[in-house]
Order: sequence, then structure tokens, then C-alpha cells
Amino acid sequence: MLPYCLVLDNAVSNAILSELAKTVTIIDERAALEKAVADKIGVAVASPMKGVEEIWFDRLSALKLIAVNGVGTDRINLAKARSHGIDVTTTLNILTEDVADLAFALLLAVTRKVTLADRFIRYGRWAEGQLFPLGTSLRGKKLGIVGLGAIGCEIAKRGEAFGMLPRYYNRTLKTDVSWPHYATPVELATDSDVLVVAISATPETVHSINSDVFTALGAGGYIINIARGSIINESDLIGALKNNTIAGAGLDVFLDEPHINAAFLALDNAVLTPHVGSATVETRTRMGQCVIDNVNAVIGGEKPINIVN
Ligand code: 8YV
Repeated sequence: MLPYCLVLDNAVSNAILSELAKTVTIIDERAALEKAVADKIGVAVASPMKGVEEIWFDRLSALKLIAVNGVGTDRINLAKARSHGIDVTTTLNILTEDVADLAFALLLAVTRKVTLADRFIRYGRWAEGQLFPLGTSLRGKKLGIVGLGAIGCEIAKRGEAFGMLPRYYNRTLKTDVSWPHYATPVELATDSDVLVVAISATPETVHSINSDVFTALGAGGYIINIARGSIINESDLIGALKNNTIAGAGLDVFLDEPHINAAFLALDNAVLTPHVGSATVETRTRMGQCVIDNVNAVIGGEKPINIVN
């Protein structure tokens, strides 16, 4: 009998599940409710978006590992997992560059009105002879990055390649970079043309990007979010986009995914993507392999890599 592995909320693709099934018996949430099954579950796989409900910590007495298929752990109580002797691992460093690329895809899409231009053609407006509005050039523009972790650094580098001037807000000053540091998101926004949110979600970051930040950013400013929906006060953002007190937004993450605030759908100055920062074949394959390796390490009696708690 293979060891039992609980897979929560479609955390991995079918291809990765098939690979996992070579070494473990896959258990879904419903089967895991049965005590005889629950007691045998030694490893679990979770998605960062859904996390792990705390009830599982008590229910799964033999659990040794939660392998997260991603990097965000804002929906997992890491301390509680530790107190139950459970290692939580992530797919550290694998998705960094793809997420930074998506930040730039959104940044270009909103400043150059790419999705609007696509709709302009499809709805026949070009053929009717209408004029398409001008976009905003990136060269020489100030690129403010909220959260200068690995992803934030990659975004800054891409900004430099486009002739932009990176600067950042981070709780701690980074001594290994020469980009200017600002003490608060508002101060950063005051001196930015584009603000990219790349900070990890914590209780402290909830709504830290709000109307004060949008006012500081100003009517010509753009905001990009590839981090977490909770960091932005969405009603403030929707108000700023509706009233054109900022120029536009590129958003990959939302407060209540996938049921996003319907007001976003009516906003032509917002470009929306369905949380696809890491969603490339290459990156998702490598992330899945990292999850498989960690599961196999633990069932083989070894330590997994990238323990975060
Ligand atoms: C995940 C994410 O990679 O890693 C994260 O924290 O937000 C995502 O990009 C994706 O949900 C796959 O599980």
C-alpha cells in the first residue's frame, strides 16, 4: 500500500497528479474526512490561493508535510503547522521570473492600451474610421516597486531594460541595490509614474495600497498588482479608476478570486488577468516537480527543501 497524500483544492495539474500517484495514494478532501483514512495521511499538497484550513491540522494526526504549489503562504497558519510538527514547503525561486514578466505584460498592456486596441478592432471601430487614443511611453518614467523581494528585483531589472527609473518601498532597506528607497508606499507613489505591488501579503499589508496612495500617484499614474488582492483597497481603486484620478490598472490578483468585483469589468482603463503570474508550461512543470520531490523526500524519510516555517 502506497503512503497517503491529501491533495487540497486541485492544487496541482492532472499531469503532476499522475506523477505523484506513482509513489503515493492520492486522497481528496472528501475521502480524508473519514478518520481511518485521515490517520494515515502523512503528506499534503496545497495551493497558495486556497491555503490550508486550520481544522486539517487537528484532523490529520500523522501529517508531516504541506507542500505548497507556489510561494504565497498567507492562507496557511505557519506557526500552527510548526506546533503540530508539520513542515510547510514552497516552490521558492521557480516562478520569480514568470511573475515579473506578467507584471510587465500588464504594465505594457495598460500603458499602451493593448487590450483596448484589440477590442477597438474586433468591435469594428478601426474600420469605421474612429481614432484610437494615444498611450503612455515608458522611457524615463519612474517605476515604484512596493516590496523588493526576488520578484520585485526582477521587475526593477525589466524596468531598467525599458529605460524606466526603478525605486522601491520595502520594510527593510536593501543594501545590495542602488535604487532609491522610500519609507512608505505613499512617499513612493508621490515619486512614481507606475506603481507595481510585489509585496508578500501579511496582516500588516491589508489595504496598505489605498486612496492615499492613489492620490499620491496622481492622474497620470498606473498601478499593477501581481501580489495579492488583499493588499489593495479595491473600492478605493475602483473609485480612482472610475473618476480617472489615476490613469489605469493592470491586475492579476483580486480580493475574492475568482468572483471578482463586477465593477472592474466595466472599466476600460483596467487590464485584468485571472491570477496567471506563474501559469506557463515551463514554470508550472518545474513547480510540480518541486512538489513531487518534496513529497517523495518526506515519504522516504528525508528532509524536504524550502521549508518556510
Ligand atoms: C501560484 C501564487 O503559483 O505562488 C503563489 O503564491 O500566487 C500563484 O502564482 C499558483 O496559484 C499555482 O498554485
